Amino acid sequence: MPAALICGSMAYDTIMVFEDRFRNHILPDKVHMLNVSFLVPQMRREFGGCAGNIAYNLKLLGGEPIPMATVGQDFAPYREWFDELGIRLDQVREVPGTFTAQAFITTDQDNNQITAFHPGAMQQSQLNRVADVAGAAIGIVAPDGRDGMLQHAAGFAARGIPFIFDPGQAMPLFSGEEFRAFIEQADYVAVNSYEASLLSERTGWSEAEIAGKVKAYVVTHGAEGSVIHAEGTAHAIPAAKPRDVVDPTGCGDAYRAGLIFGILRGFDWPMIGRVASLMGALKIAHPGTQHQRFTLDEFRDEYEMQFGHALG
Ligand SMILES: Nc1ncnc2c1ncn2[C@@H]1O[C@H](COP(=O)(O)OP(=O)(O)OP(=O)(O)O)[C@@H](O)[C@H]1O
Ligand SMILES: [Mg+2]
Repeated sequence: MPAALICGSMAYDTIMVFEDRFRNHILPDKVHMLNVSFLVPQMRREFGGCAGNIAYNLKLLGGEPIPMATVGQDFAPYREWFDELGIRLDQVREVPGTFTAQAFITTDQDNNQITAFHPGAMQQSQLNRVADVAGAAIGIVAPDGRDGMLQHAAGFAARGIPFIFDPGQAMPLFSGEEFRAFIEQADYVAVNSYEASLLSERTGWSEAEIAGKVKAYVVTHGAEGSVIHAEGTAHAIPAAKPRDVVDPTGCGDAYRAGLIFGILRGFDWPMIGRVASLMGALKIAHPGTQHQRFTLDEFRDEYEMQFGHALG
């Protein structure tokens, strides 16, 4: 399978569990001088970031992902993980004197979360250039540093490499004018339903107008599946049946790996959508974003079982 250039963040997620309720420790009449410390005996550190997650999922399908990201001097454990998986890291650049992007998430017994996000090296993602990479048949611009996203989209467009624009959590970084330029450059746009409303609001373009400017406009709706608007048709893609619903984090990234795989295989849109949808459902049965494990053959069997016909 030809290579896919995956531009986006690579990040650590540190997840801590506070075995009590924040509200027992944050006194409403004292919030003007907040000084709290939460004891968190449970803690885990996960490999994440959109480029890392998409690359991980594409590799499960037997694809050839090339993640492109800027990371910090604390990247060694992540590097080891991807080396083990056989994912190439020649486009992952260590920026001296920085930390890898990371989120510190503290969750309480009511499922409230307090998160701090340090972007670190991600803010310099523009140091990597699409033009430096040979042999990518498709690309994706996933959430990353602002300058990097603008530059990588322009880089794909200039080289005529078809790419997916995936603004995700980076939605607040761009103006309507910038979004319109991204859409004009992109071959595909993929967003969840919330991001789709924001995108229409910012650009002043309806769903149909956005769809008219790309080969496919993909809108995901969580457990309700997704819709792929392509060539004047809205393909309704059902959600696949998860074995278990454990953690929805990263379903969007898994889904996007399925899109890339399906596009590279030359499937029609309903089949591309079902592949993506099954990738999302396989992810949700596991915590974090890189714990689901299967081979391409196992994926084929599961696809056939869920949809009643063979893949490809
Ligand atoms: N509960 C679920 N059951 C089955 N499939 C699901 C479920 N949640 C998500 N999916 C699959 O994953 C796809 C993407 O999920 P969703 O729309 O929640 O993306 P997202 O909001 O970008 O998620 P995130 O950014 O947290 O990864 C859905 O279109 C669907 O196919
Ligand atoms: Mg998302």
